[in-house]
Amino acid sequence: MTEYQSADGPVTGYAPPRPSAVWISALRKVYGEGDAAVHALRGVDLDIPHGDYVAVMGASGSGKSTLMNIVGCLDVPSSGEYRLDGIAIADLDERQLSLVRNRKIGFVFQSFNLLARTTAFENVELPLVYGAVRGPQRRRRALAALHLVGLGDRVDHHPNQLSGGQQQRVAIARALVTAPSLVLADEPTGNLDTQSSSEVMSLFDRLNAAGRTIVLITHEEDIAAHAKRAVRLVDGLIVQDVRFAPVDGLPPRLATAGAGRPAAPSLALGPGA
Ligand SMILES: Nc1ncnc2c1ncn2[C@@H]1O[C@H](COP(=O)(O)OP(=O)(O)OP(=O)(O)O)[C@@H](O)[C@H]1O
Ligand SMILES: [Mg+2]
Repeated sequence: MTEYQSADGPVTGYAPPRPSAVWISALRKVYGEGDAAVHALRGVDLDIPHGDYVAVMGASGSGKSTLMNIVGCLDVPSSGEYRLDGIAIADLDERQLSLVRNRKIGFVFQSFNLLARTTAFENVELPLVYGAVRGPQRRRRALAALHLVGLGDRVDHHPNQLSGGQQQRVAIARALVTAPSLVLADEPTGNLDTQSSSEVMSLFDRLNAAGRTIVLITHEEDIAAHAKRAVRLVDGLIVQDVRFAPVDGLPPRLATAGAGRPAAPSLALGPGA
């Protein structure tokens, strides 16, 4: 029997539900002031449970990156509420915020954002350096992350010695090395050809099948079709929220590919991996 403490005292035999990965209410973001003010988000409500795989779509300037930056704790809203894994982000000081960012969130950007004069291995290791993880464990985890994205044979290559798709997979390994519960990607396939895009998306599919919550921005319908759910923004408001697959099932592409076969390949990467 589980026991937990509620406001009314201990309760036995009932586990409280896990808070959502992302819970947002009446979120607004205004850039600038007066006549120059831009209302980038105008009252967004969004609830993303753990295990979800969400594509954020919308025209250029609709507020997608603004929303993603707030979800990733890189920027703060002008008003409204945001809870990450149950934590009210507005209550945190700078130090707590950077801890949450480092521990709970992995970022992938359109332009990869890798350090040029640094090997794939060193790029992936970097978040662990910031996280003060010690040498041998750091090395083990960085190598595990590179193996996970299929780049075990490219660890000593510099970014300019890698294809675009490989560079993005290094960036994904870097996002995963801290074992975050939430992976955020802003147009991760925007700079990739069709073949590399499909490799990167199949990696996201398998990460989600292994339990990771993924939110990605895309302009392309066939990229969004990998997700379990698509949210569409118009002028800073969510105008459409469609679910393609249940949160606790396989993402659509794996469900089709894996019909009649056992579970999807495991991609666990815990802190000790
Ligand atoms: N730092 C900023 N200062 C002022 N205005 C900004 C800033 N960042 C974004 N904006 C404005 O906020 C609005 C939303 O921008 P955002 O970058 O979120 O759009 P987006 O949906 O990501 O577009 P894209 O598809 O082109 O990346 C736009 O009108 C943009 O010009
Ligand atoms: Mg954008």
